[in-house]
Amino acid sequence: MSMVIRDPRELFAHCERARHGGARIGFVPTMGALHDGHLALVDEAVRRGATQSVVSIFVNPLQFGPSEDFSRYPRTFEDDLARCTARGVDVVYAPSPETMYPPGFQTHVEVERVTTRWEGAFRPTHFRGVTTVVTKLLLAVGPCVAVFGRKDYQQWRTLDRLVHDLALPIEIVGMPTVREPDGLALSSRNRYLDGERRVRALAIASGLRQAHDLYRGGERAPETLSGVVRAAVLAAFDRIDYVEAVDPETLEPLSGASDEVLILVAAHLGATRLIDNMHLGHDARP
Ligand code: PAJ
Repeated sequence: MSMVIRDPRELFAHCERARHGGARIGFVPTMGALHDGHLALVDEAVRRGATQSVVSIFVNPLQFGPSEDFSRYPRTFEDDLARCTARGVDVVYAPSPETMYPPGFQTHVEVERVTTRWEGAFRPTHFRGVTTVVTKLLLAVGPCVAVFGRKDYQQWRTLDRLVHDLALPIEIVGMPTVREPDGLALSSRNRYLDGERRVRALAIASGLRQAHDLYRGGERAPETLSGVVRAAVLAAFDRIDYVEAVDPETLEPLSGASDEVLILVAAHLGATRLIDNMHLGHDARP
């Protein structure tokens, strides 16, 4: 059974002992409602030589906007713990909001340019919440390697930047998106989708698939590649936040033809907001 730790000092002491014993700590931060996408990150940490694996489960209030789904975000701790145990996770760190943000808390970590567009534009306080909590978690765990999903591509680029800029001695890994057999990217928020919306949600994967086919056929114009995705999503979703072809490094919009194209998508189905992306020429066809 994975060991559950709720107190940051206890976590720090445990990780310190493990390091002194020669362990290489692998870390996967999550907000719980764990699925196979999360667990693939744990496997990758082990594949990269982690001998102690730590998964954090913390629904971070700081990264949700006032009208977002913080209070109804799925909380499935017992099931998450069973999944971690089955996957051989050593420690599950599950602090309370009060221990993470005690009264008087007023220190934040911010990453600048890479957070301004896309998710940063539609969720203005989101990345500051993510970078603050992940910094606190990385400092408490002290991992050799921390694994993130490229499903949240901008988050991965932001955290990679943070670790470089602060010169933290941690290897940051970005893992490809794990999908359902029909292409839907695994997400804790998929639990919100009823039968009909679950079917409509497939429009993102099907649009990305069309863009992938066009790219394979030689198409390189960013507007054409993002255009097929936008059309597919528009037909099935209630509202689009963005569908854009961007530079995978800078996340700036592409102005001309390019071999390196990242398509970013964020759209709403009723009260559920889904994001997805595809790095053309790199990611498998969804
Ligand atoms: P959460 O949404 O729980 O995701 C935790 C990690 O799992 C993130 O790195 C995310 O990119 C990855 N992930 C989610 N779905 C995935 C999929 N289908 N395939 C591969 N990886 C996937 O992202 C967060 O939590 C939070 O912002 C966090 C980083 C924990 C900070 O609070």
